[in-house]
Amino acid sequence: MRISVNGVSHDRDVDIRTSLLDFLREHLHLAGTKKGCDQGACGACTVLVDGQRINSCLALAVQYEGRQVTTIEGLGTADALHPLQSAFIAHDGFQCGYCTPGQICSAVAMLEEVRRGLPSVVTADLAAPLPPPDRTELAERMSGNLCRCGAYNGILDVLSDALARGTA
Ligand code: FES
Ligand code: FES
Repeated sequence: MRISVNGVSHDRDVDIRTSLLDFLREHLHLAGTKKGCDQGACGACTVLVDGQRINSCLALAVQYEGRQVTTIEGLGTADALHPLQSAFIAHDGFQCGYCTPGQICSAVAMLEEVRRGLPSVVTADLAAPLPPPDRTELAERMSGNLCRCGAYNGILDVLSDALARGTA
């Protein structure tokens, strides 16, 4: 199959049972995407496909033939951090960091969903223009990404700041 990951096209023979997560980690050696639960419950494996967030542990790699996959390695580098990576550092948005790549990939897509005016389950009025999301709404929108270290206050600070500044 042919798949684009972080702007690089890869032609690989892959067992059709290989998850996208295992393909990224074991075949392409992109270990930034983490395996937490391996069953869709924690969000540690979140990546972007054509700009939308998915749990890569629940996806088969072959499903994404011809698509554009972005992992944490494709968002920023050590020398040129993505604005959200810088914000996670500035606001203490992590402790062990295991959930952080998934949190950041998820946040990139979530902020785009907010910009597009997509409602969430806690949006009060679906007919009204979407107001700037408060911390409760941001927490709901990120509820698919768990943090075992409990760095949620810092993560919400990151997201509130990114929205206020329009930096991510
Ligand atoms: Fe995919 Fe937990 S490893 S959701
Ligand atoms: Fe440790 Fe989130 S920073 S799990």
